[in-house]
Amino acid sequence: MSSKAARGNKLPVADVSLDRAILGLIKRTGARAVCDYGCGDGALLKRLDRMTGQRLQLTGIDYFSSRKKEDRPKGAGNLRFIDRVSREYRRVVEQGGVFDLIVSAFTLHHFRRPLEELAVLGRLLKPRGTLFLADLEFANDSGDQAAKNLFSFLSEEFHTFQGTYHRHHYTRDEALPLFAAAGLAVRSSRSLTVDFPGHERKEETGHALRNLDRMRVANRKTANAHQRRYFDARIEQMAALVKQHGIDYSRLFTVTAARRP
Ligand SMILES: C[S@@+](CC[C@H](N)C(=O)[O-])C[C@H]1O[C@@H](n2cnc3c(N)ncnc32)[C@H](O)[C@@H]1O
Repeated sequence: MSSKAARGNKLPVADVSLDRAILGLIKRTGARAVCDYGCGDGALLKRLDRMTGQRLQLTGIDYFSSRKKEDRPKGAGNLRFIDRVSREYRRVVEQGGVFDLIVSAFTLHHFRRPLEELAVLGRLLKPRGTLFLADLEFANDSGDQAAKNLFSFLSEEFHTFQGTYHRHHYTRDEALPLFAAAGLAVRSSRSLTVDFPGHERKEETGHALRNLDRMRVANRKTANAHQRRYFDARIEQMAALVKQHGIDYSRLFTVTAARRP
């Protein structure tokens, strides 16, 4: 996940695999106008720009206005960034048929209204355009995955109670029907396990523990005493589980889809 790459010098293995898949798609489809939907700090687009010799029109879309000014990615030349809550975003969606390729990495489980977002992605594609989406596989089929899944479920529950955020978790099989329901035709999908070296596990584990610290602080301000006690206990249990097992983001799925003719 590229936003996390900023924490270390080495590119996470998931990013290396995704970069390769995306470059392959650009080559096969001859895409020129490429969008990263939920682009975070724009790292993927900047890498694509370098790797393709600045030949592409690159657009990143995300919620930038909620970030500090210095943390917002800056566009220039063939690279532009559009705030998800802006007139420009609404104009681009209204126009539709803008991109040859839309990539969206580790975003689906963040979408508050997944069907609506996927339908927008379909609308933003040119008629013969391609959507490439990658996300974490939230399968509960091994002990190793338990700490990561439980941590994610607790975050979802906590933030839902705080009224700030809502997340959904999917396995690939659970995600696929969403694409059809949003008017997209799935061309291919894959479940994959990428290498997850020790230093990445350590970084992600530290990140999860810092998130639990933030939840602990936010929970103290919660007015409802029952809720406060409930989450206090859960946060402590979760911190112990995460310290014991670490966080493992090695399981992913990818979906390639197109606008339905
Ligand atoms: C886990 S981060 C992944 C960022 C980046 N794609 C990467 O791989 O590092 C999820 C991103 O999706 C963005 N996001 C969530 N819902 C979104 C939406 N409805 N439209 C656009 N971006 C969204 C978040 O703001 C966040 O930057």
